[in-house]
Amino acid sequence: MPLLLENFDILNTMTTSNPIPEILIHIDAGVMTLSINRLGKKNSITAAMYAVMADAVALAQHDGAVRTLVIQGHETIFSAGNDIGDFLNQPPTTPDAPVFRFMRGISSFTKPIVAAVCGPAVGIGCTMLLHCDLIYAGDNAAFSMPFVNLGLCPEAASSLLVPQLMGYPRAAEALLLGEPFSAETALEMGFINRIVPPLEANALAQQQARKLAAKPLSALIETKRLMKKGNASLVAERIAEEALSFGRMLSEPAAREAFSAFMQKRKPDFSKV
Ligand code: COA
Repeated sequence: MPLLLENFDILNTMTTSNPIPEILIHIDAGVMTLSINRLGKKNSITAAMYAVMADAVALAQHDGAVRTLVIQGHETIFSAGNDIGDFLNQPPTTPDAPVFRFMRGISSFTKPIVAAVCGPAVGIGCTMLLHCDLIYAGDNAAFSMPFVNLGLCPEAASSLLVPQLMGYPRAAEALLLGEPFSAETALEMGFINRIVPPLEANALAQQQARKLAAKPLSALIETKRLMKKGNASLVAERIAEEALSFGRMLSEPAAREAFSAFMQKRKPDFSKV
């Protein structure tokens, strides 16, 4: 596929034309950096933001000018996950929904992905990390996958990858109880690579991404393919199966109650669902 710099321009226009760009896209020295930039809503992600991210990931996959992808947030918050109000208004019910396009894009991305994570990483803010190759976390990072608490099921193949990564008992605490875990626990479990002061996380991710971008791309791609080979089709199948359940559960009473409670800033009442 030819170099698609004009498409990068389109993406950047799409984002920079917003008064406050919510996804920043920067390309330099073979590294595409996606920055989630919606601090007022704790970097929660709307369908429009997923669409920009999915398009950027697709371009990064096909364009030889991009050799490594970085995903980062702010030193106080990585992402509060899906924007709950947006989910209520336009639930992702088809495989083409931007959130599913983004998930498929990063889970099948053949080049290295580096993430910098500080503060809360909730829901997809946590599960997207399962598809990153190197993760650098601020000491304030807090990971959680509270899908059950929202009347939902796991997504982004987390029902497969989380038990594989941390073993079933810890996966049950994370996915059935929805309990958060710290950067130290994440490091001990092998979920992340290193803990640094929050203000240093983005710079470290950038430094590592540049190291990767300077290596032979074909060797990186083949090495990543071989490391992930055993899981690749299982991951794709699980994402599709989870998406079916997730899409259905979004309109069921438990999720409606959980989302309404969040919007109304009250505790959910699941006694009737
Ligand atoms: N969707 C939409 N809005 C969100 C959001 C989300 N996932 N997470 C936070 N916000 C909004 C809040 O509604 C609030 O908006 P307001 O100022 O207009 O009232 C603002 O972001 C600040 O959130 P707040 O909860 O006050 O911040 P906090 O620092 O006390 O807590 C979190 C941060 C991330 C721990 C907390 O916001 C949280 O748990 N969010 C929900 C995460 C979640 O369940 N995600 C999964 C979605 S599938």
